[in-house]
Amino acid sequence: MAGKIPQQFIDDLLARTDIVDLISTRIQLRKAGKDYQARCPFHEEKTPSFTVSADKQFYYCFGCGAHGTAIGFLMEHDHLAFPEAIEELAQRIGLEIPDQGAPVRTGPDPAPLLRLMEQASALYRQQLRDHPQAARAVQYLKDRGLSGTIAARFDLGFAPSGDFLLGRLGCGGAEQAKLMTCGLIAEQDARRYDRFRDRIMFPIRDRRGRVIGFGGRLLGDGKPKYLNSPETPLFHKGRELYGLFEVQQSNRKIASIIVVEGYMDVIALAQFGITNAVATLGTATTQDHLQQLLRTTPELVFCFDGDRAGRDAAWKALVTALPLATGQQSIRFHFLPEGEDPDTLVRRLGPEGFTARLDEAQPLSTLLFEHLEQQVDMTSMDGRARLANLAQPLVAQLPQGIYRDLVLKRIADLTGLPTPRPVRDTRRSTRAALPVRLSLIAQAIALLLDNPHLAAHTGACDDAWRRSTNPGVDVLGQLLDMLIDRPGMNKAAVLERWREHPHFRYLQRISVDPFLQDIAEEHLVAVFVGALNRISEETCKIERRLPFNQSSTTQWSAEERARLKAQTQAARIPRDKLH
Ligand code: UTP
Ligand code: MN
Repeated sequence: MAGKIPQQFIDDLLARTDIVDLISTRIQLRKAGKDYQARCPFHEEKTPSFTVSADKQFYYCFGCGAHGTAIGFLMEHDHLAFPEAIEELAQRIGLEIPDQGAPVRTGPDPAPLLRLMEQASALYRQQLRDHPQAARAVQYLKDRGLSGTIAARFDLGFAPSGDFLLGRLGCGGAEQAKLMTCGLIAEQDARRYDRFRDRIMFPIRDRRGRVIGFGGRLLGDGKPKYLNSPETPLFHKGRELYGLFEVQQSNRKIASIIVVEGYMDVIALAQFGITNAVATLGTATTQDHLQQLLRTTPELVFCFDGDRAGRDAAWKALVTALPLATGQQSIRFHFLPEGEDPDTLVRRLGPEGFTARLDEAQPLSTLLFEHLEQQVDMTSMDGRARLANLAQPLVAQLPQGIYRDLVLKRIADLTGLPTPRPVRDTRRSTRAALPVRLSLIAQAIALLLDNPHLAAHTGACDDAWRRSTNPGVDVLGQLLDMLIDRPGMNKAAVLERWREHPHFRYLQRISVDPFLQDIAEEHLVAVFVGALNRISEETCKIERRLPFNQSSTTQWSAEERARLKAQTQAARIPRDKLH
């Protein structure tokens, strides 16, 4: 999805988007002074430290340091790629993304396919009400205990027998080709036919609610019981989770998500008021699934069958989850009683009984050790040593941190062997707002990014600072020139112009550096002008070749240099200047 979206368009988009409105559609904001507040959607907390500024069009969490523009919010919160976030914003306000000759995406445009899927979904839905064959389908759903409300929430439909869609949507060659691409019709021996016939249709939606695929269930027994859309340009089953959109729709705050196997399990649970279940689509749980889920909720409970196959599937999911198990979120496993699935279980036990069972689900570490202990003889020393060996590659996958240390400690306790020394983590969290002492240049940049109006106050400044040879001065110069050129830009608009810059993430982060919060509004101009003047003084001092102190505040600190280096290979600032 590379390609260039014109800057002018992004400017327009931001000018017509209000981040407060946007975020309000996802979480509940409360007005607090001139900003808005909420409990942070990016980490668990009891008291709100997530703030949204209408002036700056920027959000910032004092708790976890999450921050960004409206575009950034969609990327983080809805897990969209940059072009998708742009598309989402454009759609909200009804703007067309201009086609500037340069392709905006690399693949074919998904919009016509999405429209077609939506049409197909609407037709299937209508057939469930109107088609002469649909009485059986309705009866089937009733027999399974589903109400009309739930069927409507999941947009259930009915595919009649015969080539229904082909007849309705496939009137020309181009139309048929699109239907093929979407996986709605198939072809054999040069004959085209409807893939889904005489089935209850479950539309599969992406996180944004767009229909990207279908699951179809036979009304009675037969094979295959379920037929799913094949992989298409829209639908990748290793990436999608059935019901995730509906979970987001039904819950403002998603305290936990239950992962089940089947469409009907998700729907049956919703029928009983348990609106936080999603299903993998006939595949094993992938890293991608887990990543999405863990960014959406602090607590995951997997439901697996209690049989051998279910146990194996759980172990696979556990191994997949290891690199993501920080211990900050809870990942637990529940094994269903023999011969039951969540659908039958919730009917038998009721929602309270079902939830009570899930409360007893095993934490990841419990399952991990149980599985390992089963493979060795814990009464012998050899067996215990073997456990340590078996555990080692698994533990190595856990992210470094307290959780991993606890698991290591547990191995030591179980085996009586000394705790392997945990390797110190030299990577930094990308989120945490670490206090960093910024250089003067970085401070000036941060001040400008956070308060673009300051650019108007540099008229009286000596601009010797522009001759400084310290890293970052080029960024400061470009930034200031841009702001003088275009007064009135807000923080978000300014930052979005730097998204392509190799130091974008760094720039965005220093724009919320804690030092900024300590400056009273009325002192901002003085602090900013003071910073520029001091950079100028130092520059002149160096130019006069006066003895010059290495720890000068215009030098970027060791920490900044390390970050810059880590963040980009393609830095514009020549490497030698970073040393
Ligand atoms: P199950 O056979 O457990 O289905 O398959 P279920 O959800 O209990 O269905 P009901 O209750 O009989 O209606 C679980 C999931 O595996 C996939 C589907 O995603 C299904 O929801 N599956 C199953 C298929 O893709 N094809 C099949 O033929 C069967
Ligand atoms: Mn079932």
